[in-house]
Formats: sequence, structure tokens, C-alpha cells
Amino acid sequence: MTDFHPETMSVHAGCEPDPATNARITPIYQTASYVFDDAEHAAKLFSLQEFGNIYTRIMNPTNDALEKKVTALEGGVGALGVASGHAAQLIAFHTLMEPGCNIVAAKKLYGGSLNQMGEAFKKFGWETRFVDADDPANVAAAIDEKTRVVFIESLANPGGVVTDIQAIADAAHAGGVPLIVDNTMATPALCRPFEHGADIVVHSTTKFLNGHGNAIGGVIVDSGKFDWKAQGDKYPSLTQPNGSYHGAVLADALEPIGPIAFIIGCRVLGLRDLGPAMAPMNAFLALTGMETLHLRMEKHCSNALALAEWLKEQPQVEWVSYAGLADDPYNPLAQKYLGGQGGAVFTFGLKGGYDAGVKLVSGVNLFSHLANIGDTRSLIIHPASTTHSQLSEEELLSAGAGPDVVRVSVGIEHIEDIKADLAQALSAL
Ligand SMILES: Cc1ncc(COP(=O)(O)O)c(C=O)c1O
Repeated sequence: MTDFHPETMSVHAGCEPDPATNARITPIYQTASYVFDDAEHAAKLFSLQEFGNIYTRIMNPTNDALEKKVTALEGGVGALGVASGHAAQLIAFHTLMEPGCNIVAAKKLYGGSLNQMGEAFKKFGWETRFVDADDPANVAAAIDEKTRVVFIESLANPGGVVTDIQAIADAAHAGGVPLIVDNTMATPALCRPFEHGADIVVHSTTKFLNGHGNAIGGVIVDSGKFDWKAQGDKYPSLTQPNGSYHGAVLADALEPIGPIAFIIGCRVLGLRDLGPAMAPMNAFLALTGMETLHLRMEKHCSNALALAEWLKEQPQVEWVSYAGLADDPYNPLAQKYLGGQGGAVFTFGLKGGYDAGVKLVSGVNLFSHLANIGDTRSLIIHPASTTHSQLSEEELLSAGAGPDVVRVSVGIEHIEDIKADLAQALSAL
């Protein structure tokens, strides 16, 4: 499916007519397990001599269709669908990390990822070093012999920040580690991180890929480009004998099939043992949503740009941070990595600070006040009192979520209706 344009792949990739029934739409394979042909077939599946369906915790045909669609759109060698965006990060890191090792991550990340990496991962003995990734030299300086991975968001949540993917990939590779890019906010419709040096992409499909706010999900995609065996014993899950597969070394055993050791390791070790499987129903909803990804992203971006321009003129608004604006400091990076688009999520600052933020989100009617992004509907939140409330004042500022900040995820409604709703809520401040 890789010879087609992205719009065509969004509709068709992974979604052949069902081989069992000729159903045109990929069915929801609502089954926990699959019957083996015979004992030999079962033994081969369990020893990785053959790939096939065993049990829905580790593979399912509906999920497989979604994995193929995302692989095609990102230009990778394979993908794994999991229960949520956070599960995608957990499984990807679990495959690469060991106790006592560290992650070098950008400071400007989704608040939940700051929590996951900064707090929850400590229990695994993994340290996360958050750096200001606006200067790739900070990433290079933080990498040491215990670093196993660098993590960034292509377009950062909550607001308007575009990351210099190629420069950070170069820094990661100079340090002998892969770069993972969370491409949730940009989606492959705007940005394909593998074309800029990234090695692994993760997504929360909950957001723009699904696009309709009706199912949680996550995907990990492998570029197949990182040479695990060239890094000595840094990545034992992939390059050392594995006790649960009769001492097989994944990177060696899978070499004849292709450079898929990482993504298979995520599936047959991480997902098998930690267990956050994607529900086939949620894969089906993501597949359906993805058919309109490119149409939606065009409308999301044009509405977001029009709204950002309008907000700049409003007397209650102090500043607007949207990389799609020609005079925005991140616009040159948006030109380089996002085709000049700024995505649909951005932040603005209110002159009235924290109290004005709380009042604005209480005064909207068309906008939904909730903790999500990427829906067809316009969404709004005041991060300092919600998603980022766990952070200190200093951390709030460095995450781009200060007390005056409001975040919007601009939907695909008519732009005049979107503006009118914010106009009435702003006038009440
Ligand atoms: C950029 C980004 N990455 C990851 C996540 C986590 O995804 P999920 O909520 O599906 O676990 C989110 C959730 O908001 C997000 O915005």
C-alpha cells in the first residue's frame, strides 16, 4: 500500500475485504482466542517459528488492520496497537529500559507524560531527565552511558511548540540511543518523523487518528532503522538470550524476516507480560475515524489558524502561541516539519490570569470543557487547574502551562460559530 498517496492509504491501508467473509469493512473480531490447526501449528506459534493468532492480549485481526494502516502512513516496518497512548509509551520504554537506566525527554510534553516518566517510572528504577529541547545541545549534554532513549513530541501538548526532530535525532544517535517521537498532535497527515531521523513513533489514537472522541487507544510504530546489535549489551531484551523463548535472541531470530526486533519485542515481551491490550472495538472505531484523517486535519488546521489570528485581536487576550502564525517563533520549524501547518491545539494567555482562565472555560457553550484533544468538536481546558495542576509554578511555566494559559483543540465546526462562542465567553471576563 506504500505506493499510494497518504489520503488513499488512510482509507485503504490494512483494510482489504475480509478474507473469511468478503465483508468490505474490517469486522470487529470479538474473540479472546483462536483455534490451532494442530499441535505442531500451536508449538510453532509459541516458539515464534510462525506468526499467527494465539490470544487477543497479543494479537487480533481488527487490531492488525489498524497496525497496518498506521505503519503505512508513518512509513514504518511494523506497529503494535495497545490500550492507550500511555500504554504505548510504557510498552516502548519497557522494551528498551533496564533498572538504573535513564530517559532524556523534552520538558514540553503532555502533562500526563510528565507524570508517567517523572513519577511512575521511578518505581521501575528508570530515571527521566527533562531538558529544554528547544536547544538540541541540552539533549546531547544530558545523554550518558546509562541513557537508553530520547523522547520528544513532534508538536507538543499543551501548546504550539514544534520540536527540531532532525537535530534531536542527530544528538540521540551521536549518543548511541534511539529517538522516540510522540506524533499524536501532528499525526502523519502533517508530520512523518521517520523522514527526519526518528526511530520509533508512538501515538495516542484517542486523539486525531480516531478523531471522534469515542475510544481510547495507542500505537507504537517501528522504523526498523535503529541497529540494536551495534550497541553492545545496551538493549538486552532484543539482543540477549530470552528465557521465555527457550533462550532465543530476538534480533537474531527475526533478522531473516526483517528489522522488526523492536516491534516484535514490544508485542511478545512487553504486551504479553504487562497486558494493556487494545479492545478490538476500539481498533474498529480508530480505523473508521482514520479514513477521514486528512480531511479533518485540513479543516482543523484552517479553523485553528483563523481562530488564532482572531484571538490576537481580542482585548482580553495577552498572547497567542500557535506555530501556524507567520510571526510565531516556532513557525520556521512548522514550515520544516509540518508543511507550514500548526495543528489544531494551541494555547493563549488571558490578561486576567488564573481566575480569568477558570471563568472563560465556565462560560463557553459550543466548546466542551473537558480533558481531551483531537475531537471533531471544539474543546477547551485551563491546564493549570486541571491536567497540569500537579506541577509547581516553575514546572507549569516550563511546560507552557502557566496560570493564565487556556488550551483549545479547535474542531471542524463553522469558524464563525467557534469565534462567536469564545467572543461571548471573553466578553464576560
Ligand atoms: C500528546 C499526548 N500523548 C499521549 C497521551 C496519552 O494518551 P492516552 O490518553 O490515550 O493514554 C496524550 C493524552 O492526552 C497526549 O495528548
